[in-house]
Amino acid sequence: MPSSAAEPVEARVSLVTGSSRGIGNAVARRLALGGHTVVLHGRTYESAAAAASALTRDTGAKTDAVHGDVADPAAVADMMREIHRRHRRLDSLVVNAGIHAAAMIGMMGSETVERLFQVNAIGATHTLQSAASLLRRGVAPAVVFLSSVMATRGSTGQAVYGATKAAVLGLTRSAAKELGPAGIRVNAVAPGFVETDMLASLDEDGRAERVRATPLGRLAEPGDIAAAVAFLLSGDAGFITGQVLGVDGGVIL
Ligand SMILES: NC(=O)c1ccc[n+]([C@@H]2O[C@H](COP(=O)([O-])OP(=O)(O)OC[C@H]3O[C@@H](n4cnc5c(N)ncnc54)[C@H](OP(=O)(O)O)[C@@H]3O)[C@@H](O)[C@H]2O)c1
Repeated sequence: MPSSAAEPVEARVSLVTGSSRGIGNAVARRLALGGHTVVLHGRTYESAAAAASALTRDTGAKTDAVHGDVADPAAVADMMREIHRRHRRLDSLVVNAGIHAAAMIGMMGSETVERLFQVNAIGATHTLQSAASLLRRGVAPAVVFLSSVMATRGSTGQAVYGATKAAVLGLTRSAAKELGPAGIRVNAVAPGFVETDMLASLDEDGRAERVRATPLGRLAEPGDIAAAVAFLLSGDAGFITGQVLGVDGGVIL
């Protein structure tokens, strides 16, 4: 039987971490337009609630907002308890909240090293662990992690960030194996260079260099990544798990 037959008749309940802006916000928008009830998330209640109101105003979709630092396990557990209280289950989870910092080896302060791991790797782990019981109650449940081309393609200045994003791939593959028997699919997307606040610090030369490194000749728009995430969450990807989908315009080649 095609897996799309298992799609819920009622709206999917979908949490997108780090959806107050950037890629996460584009994913939330895409899911809202696809009929999901979207739970938006940011570090503060204000940023998450403002993004949720804007999305409902623009799309008419049902939205909700939760907040908390993903590096704080108690905050993540509170967030999931709140989703359980309000929605009882999760059908989709997009583990997107993340930060970036670049420095040559030996030049990155230990606080920055630790914060990168705390948010990108440990935060993603807390999110999956705390959401697992909600996902087990979900219908055709699916998880998508945001990794990066930097996880598999080395680049000067990206050693620590790349290591945090490689950790996410390790999480993806073992989680796919462990949660598969419960019907929960787990995949990752690995974007190249995406036009968000994360690239805001690039000067003209840095931007041009990244465009030159991309065979398709442009930086990604957040919507490019959102389309891939929406596919991996959908019934069309119902037999895909443990995979990493590059959405990079060919940067990895
Ligand atoms: N942009 C790129 O070129 C690129 C490429 C490859 C992969 N990625 C990955 O894609 C994901 C999204 O990136 P982006 O470019 O959209 O970033 P962004 O525009 O900087 O947005 C980051 C989002 O994550 C949230 N966030 C950051 N730290 C958090 C924390 N400790 N706890 C909770 N939420 C937190 C932010 O919330 P607030 O608004 O509250 O700060 C915001 O919603 C990240 O995992 C990133 O590593 C990005």
